[in-house]
Amino acid sequence: MKHLLKMLDLSKEEILSIIDLADQLKYEHRHGIAHPHLRGKSLGMIFQKSSTRTRVSFEVGMFQLGGQALFLSPRDLQIGRGEPVEDTARVLSRYLSGIMIRTFEQKEVEDLAKYGTIPIINGLTDFAHPCQVLADLMTIREYISKFEGRKLCFIGDGNNMANSLIVGGLKLGMEVSVATPEDYKPHSDVLAFADEQVKAGAKFKLTTDIFEAAKNADVVITDVWASMGQEGEAEKRRSSFTGFQVSDELLSVTKKDVVIQHCLPAHKGEEITREVFEKHMGEIFEEAENRLHAQKAVLVKLMQG
Ligand code: CP
Ligand code: NVA
Repeated sequence: MKHLLKMLDLSKEEILSIIDLADQLKYEHRHGIAHPHLRGKSLGMIFQKSSTRTRVSFEVGMFQLGGQALFLSPRDLQIGRGEPVEDTARVLSRYLSGIMIRTFEQKEVEDLAKYGTIPIINGLTDFAHPCQVLADLMTIREYISKFEGRKLCFIGDGNNMANSLIVGGLKLGMEVSVATPEDYKPHSDVLAFADEQVKAGAKFKLTTDIFEAAKNADVVITDVWASMGQEGEAEKRRSSFTGFQVSDELLSVTKKDVVIQHCLPAHKGEEITREVFEKHMGEIFEEAENRLHAQKAVLVKLMQG
């Protein structure tokens, strides 16, 4: 594994080895055992979109690993004035040990990896959010102990989270079901991957019926109706997504001890009710904490040695 660009690039073994290392780093962190595996290394972090969790967890994670992180705003970088991504990648490769980038187009992240000579980490694009999904899978295993035969259900927009969860869940042997409105399906590359998996015996269902998707689910995951960059569509989306909500009524058809995940930030009253959010905040904030541990595992795998 040279980069973390999208879940489609990872094998089942690579995903499991990241989660295993994340569990170990979490244990060490909780017990005050230092792990300065990246002493002397620097991570550049380019953010073209806002962030709370990703920014803080990467910055603190690099510090805990004995290295440092640099917050690079496009407002200050020449990239914001049109310097090509390929030149930025070539230059930054000479100063840094790795780059984390949050941006719009997946192609920009793939181009950084193509032209640079250091590991590139996708900190969210319109297509994918692999860092979040690695933390989600880590959290899911903490709560339900195994993946095989367990059912993961995603309700809402076929966005970066849906795309990455479908791939991650299927790769680990989970049954995956997704409910989206007709015009908001996951990306065609992801649906093609799911089709291949079904031919090989996996269980995958895409529907517009949230109750069908959630039936007997062990894990229910949702995300905002309008992602970053779609603020202008918020009004239209609010009407298209009416009913695509994780509520107590929906949870009456899942397993009784269902685990709820939300990458945050949440719009309570839209994709999830306040009641469900508050009742399940234990696992939702564990998921947020696990961003730190899962990303430290990714950083160590990519940047050590
Ligand atoms: N879940 C997530 O990526 O959060 P931020 O946008 O705050 O980084
Ligand atoms: N789908 C959301 C996730 C935020 C972490 C977005 O892209 O804005």
